[in-house]
Amino acid sequence: MNSICIRSPGRINFIGEHVDYIETYSCPATINLYNDIVILKNEGKSIRIYSDKFGDSKEIPFDSIYNIKEYDFSKFWYGYFVGILRALADFGIKILEGFEVKVISNLPDGAGLSSSASIEVGFLSGLNNLFSLGLDKIDIVKIAKKAENIYMKAPCGIMDQYTITFGKRNSFLFLDYSQLAHKYCEVPEDFNYFIIDTKIKHSIAADGYKNRILEKDKIQNILMQNFNLNIKDAVLISIEDFKFYSEIILKLNDSVLNKRFNHFVSETERTITFYKKFKENGFENAFNLLNQSHISLSNLYEVSLPEIDDLVLNIQKMENVLGCRMIGGGFGGSCLVVTKRNFDYLKLKTFINTFNEKNKCDINLFEINLGDAVHII
Ligand code: GLA
Repeated sequence: MNSICIRSPGRINFIGEHVDYIETYSCPATINLYNDIVILKNEGKSIRIYSDKFGDSKEIPFDSIYNIKEYDFSKFWYGYFVGILRALADFGIKILEGFEVKVISNLPDGAGLSSSASIEVGFLSGLNNLFSLGLDKIDIVKIAKKAENIYMKAPCGIMDQYTITFGKRNSFLFLDYSQLAHKYCEVPEDFNYFIIDTKIKHSIAADGYKNRILEKDKIQNILMQNFNLNIKDAVLISIEDFKFYSEIILKLNDSVLNKRFNHFVSETERTITFYKKFKENGFENAFNLLNQSHISLSNLYEVSLPEIDDLVLNIQKMENVLGCRMIGGGFGGSCLVVTKRNFDYLKLKTFINTFNEKNKCDINLFEINLGDAVHII
């Protein structure tokens, strides 16, 4: 085999935001927007990458990828490809046969739909097939995460890589991070999903996300010292035992850390409830939890922005909207709107147009479906 084409989707997350790195639960799903990645072997000693999205191409010799570690590629669009090859080398696999890569995409960048993980997982899955590397799916998830954490310098959790690898059409995952395992939950075709891309670019390599990780580490240290517990266990016990939760809050003794821990507990509880309600066919009530999740992300976790709160709160009030919230890392990016089938789309479109005019912004509205995981096409 000389070439391969891989379709790698983006993802949304119904609920369970900013809890992957404390290893509780989320309910993410792959969507029908994707990066198509073509890899073609050649005889060279380099990789050449073409990207439609960045309107650019770049040739990188294997020598600078593997041997000159001081070359920091994290600031460049082609850093994702180098990051994957370097993380793969750390795993014990060095590809030294030249190849070309071409990426064509309809997945917006920096919109909280996980475009970077989509490229990384797609590229790695392509290499795995083309060069018969023998990686299993969990290897792919872990290597792609390492590429993002170490080589792209973005301290993200594992939700995006896992979802893109294991997603399923018309379904979401109930993802248990501590087990790295999931259950599929099929969603009936009674709902429509809209993405509102605020075009306020977010980057998880930027300070906001990094600070949340530092705060999480502080909480972890305090819990370990005082209760000999990791955050996940402290969160799960707190859901059942309010007295214990109050003791933790007393020990954290810091208004910011208290809010963050409160988000971990309430968001984890909502995620468990969301999954349970789904299993009991209580779909509409389940989607209502998205609204509460947004309040928590805004007030307790403080990763929303005033203009996003304004948008979300107005959309939540519209007739036949079941739930609406910001998704992903935050500080910009996208909002997800879940509606009943008979929702008046034009009303939302008009609302967004007026919002754009009034606030001089360029928000984009589009419909999505729950699509397939990464696959060969
Ligand atoms: C980003 C990260 C994920 C996760 C979300 C917040 O998308 O890449 O790992 O932490 O933010 O839930």
